[in-house]
Amino acid sequence: MALNLDAIGKKIGPVSKDYTWRDVVLYALGVGAGFDELEYCYEQKLKVIPSFSIASVFEFLAEVAVSSNADLSGILHGEQDIIFHNPIPVEGTITTQGAITHIYDKGEGKGALVVAEADTYHSNGQKLFTNIFTLFCRKDGGFGGDPGPTEDLEMPDHPPDFEEEAVSSPDQPLLYRLSGDVFQLHVDPDFARASGFEKPIMHGLCTHGYACRAVIKHLFPGEPERMTRFRVRFSRPLYPGVPFTTQIWKVEEGRALFRTINAQSGEVVMDQGIVEWMSPEEMERRKRLGSIHFDGQVAIVTGAGAGLGRVYALDLARRGAKVVVNDLGGARDGSGEGSKAPADRVVEEIRALGGEAVANYDSVATPEGGQAIVDAAIEAFGRVDILINNAGILRDKTLAKMEPENWDAVIDVHLKGAYNVTRPAFLKMREQGYGRIILTSSAAGLYGNFGQTNYSAAKMGLVGFMNTVKLEGEKHNIKVNTVAPMAATRLTEDVLPPDLFEKLKPEFVAPLVIYLCSSGCEDNGMIFNAGMGYFNRAAILTGPGTVIGDGTKAPTLEDIHRNWDAINDMTDAQEFPNATAAFGPMLDAFSPKKEAAAQDSGGGLSVRGIFERICEAFQPDKAAGVDVVFQFDISGPEGGQWHVKVKDGGCQVSEGTHGSPTTTIKMADEDFVKLIAGELNAMSAFTGGKLKIEGDLMKSQLIEKLFKF
Ligand code: NAI
Repeated sequence: MALNLDAIGKKIGPVSKDYTWRDVVLYALGVGAGFDELEYCYEQKLKVIPSFSIASVFEFLAEVAVSSNADLSGILHGEQDIIFHNPIPVEGTITTQGAITHIYDKGEGKGALVVAEADTYHSNGQKLFTNIFTLFCRKDGGFGGDPGPTEDLEMPDHPPDFEEEAVSSPDQPLLYRLSGDVFQLHVDPDFARASGFEKPIMHGLCTHGYACRAVIKHLFPGEPERMTRFRVRFSRPLYPGVPFTTQIWKVEEGRALFRTINAQSGEVVMDQGIVEWMSPEEMERRKRLGSIHFDGQVAIVTGAGAGLGRVYALDLARRGAKVVVNDLGGARDGSGEGSKAPADRVVEEIRALGGEAVANYDSVATPEGGQAIVDAAIEAFGRVDILINNAGILRDKTLAKMEPENWDAVIDVHLKGAYNVTRPAFLKMREQGYGRIILTSSAAGLYGNFGQTNYSAAKMGLVGFMNTVKLEGEKHNIKVNTVAPMAATRLTEDVLPPDLFEKLKPEFVAPLVIYLCSSGCEDNGMIFNAGMGYFNRAAILTGPGTVIGDGTKAPTLEDIHRNWDAINDMTDAQEFPNATAAFGPMLDAFSPKKEAAAQDSGGGLSVRGIFERICEAFQPDKAAGVDVVFQFDISGPEGGQWHVKVKDGGCQVSEGTHGSPTTTIKMADEDFVKLIAGELNAMSAFTGGKLKIEGDLMKSQLIEKLFKF
């Protein structure tokens, strides 16, 4: 059985897990915590031992082993590196997704290494940690692959700065295994003997947890949330009840090396340990930033020299993003030579806050300008994660007086401007597999405003642009959303009454926009109005319509007239995720397949028809507080892939795969139709293997409640 090299890069997960304070405490007890470290064991003031992060994603690790096709009888946990992004909350749901990144060949008889990387997010939207797992596959070497890097870390040759002695209970694995790793090697004496051991051995990850406690105790006592990295290599087994010592060398402020030795034999059981932690000042800074921050991310804000753009740029920088402040510094109508001063001033403001920013003075109105803006981000900071298309001008005139030059100038900055900058940024984001794009629309475009045909057309054009970019970016984790702001700026100073102008600070719009820029925000293709602290979502709705005739003869004008009310009716109007879905009811109305299917099982349902109607079947009153994405992978001739997103009492269906679904449902087309028609019981389909569920099993039970066909 050869290793599956094709598994490299294939997504594993999402694997979701709910946990409570009891799981956190059970883990802490499993890795030897007790009354001396009550903060790990008492729900009244609970803190999570950071190494819980690996115990909590054990199922992901098991999937890595299976999908690599390694010989399971030869697998050992080789190395574990964990990068911590945010403190681990004491309860919630975590979702882990990743992939095998490398498979290395150490040579015939020397084994192979399977390396996988996974990010784990909490249900509060925060990215908690990144795990880099290395499995040592003893029996799989010699396939002629890349031997991989060989970097060995030398422990200092002077005595350790700290030593922590510990002895586990002889029964420790029986307690530790309750945190998820139920492998027989750690419980079954016969299995252990058959594997060449005297008796069941300690879980490597249990000793890992002991070491994690030890380094915290000596380096940043009582503050596990300061840990930013914890890496070890597992080198030898240890029997429960045998004393062991963790030796720690502090090499610099914020970084130490460590290893764990068997105190009886002197053998190293865990080696190459690295621990890194943040300073109290950095901890304080992160607390100040709040839960959403953009550390390590690069943002471009166009038209950021003044008004709304300036506030977005400052907020992003305050929360850790490096910012390209673009502004050509022209007049309100876009005329004039331009000036570097507005962009420079904002860059100065950001630097004064301790942030990082560069100025850019190119115009968004040309493709060359757009490219130069994105190039500025790459040159200064190496990537682009966030783009806020915000630059804007006004040339208001009634249609009768709207000369082509005024029409063109406004279209060039707003509509073409968004295309000019978004395209090169999108290409970069696609390479990175991540991006957040904001488009700036306006109530004038969404609803109309006297004297603004040019501006309204451009602003509504942006919605059309978004509707398609959302589909093209989805599988690359690029989300695009639109804001229609209302704020007191140079653009509105002579439009708004003075008392209202005072209340409409750009700062009241910015939080929504900055939230849409965050990794935790999974919304895609939405429009939001924002101003004065009032926020709502706008959408394009389609009425149920009516069928006139049988589809063989064109209706007459009189037919249209007679049916005018039904055509106009907006009762139960719905949103469609894309044009194909919007055509669905039209095609469905005259579909011969529909009639044929009506005679088949499933009472007129087809797989495609189900997804076209799933939002009609949606029960919003059952969806309070629900935030899930169901991925349906339906096999068979009628099959396909769809995902259904339920959030904030709304339902959205899209064809294709979602990047991080909550639950994935896999079924054959016939069975799926029967299930929906009520002819197949979900539980018996599941136990009989006709229905496969991946990800969050519990959430799959919501489907029955949320959709009634
Ligand atoms: P603002 O005039 O204060 O800021 C716009 C900035 O864009 C200016 O600093 C300007 O120099 C810059 N700019 C103009 N053309 C440019 C170009 N070709 N390349 C680079 N930069 C350019 O206006 P405000 O209100 O902050 O507007 C921001 C965005 O919000 C605009 O897209 C506007 O249409 C939109 N908006 C604003 C509303 C409001 O109530 N303020 C209402 C609805 C939409």
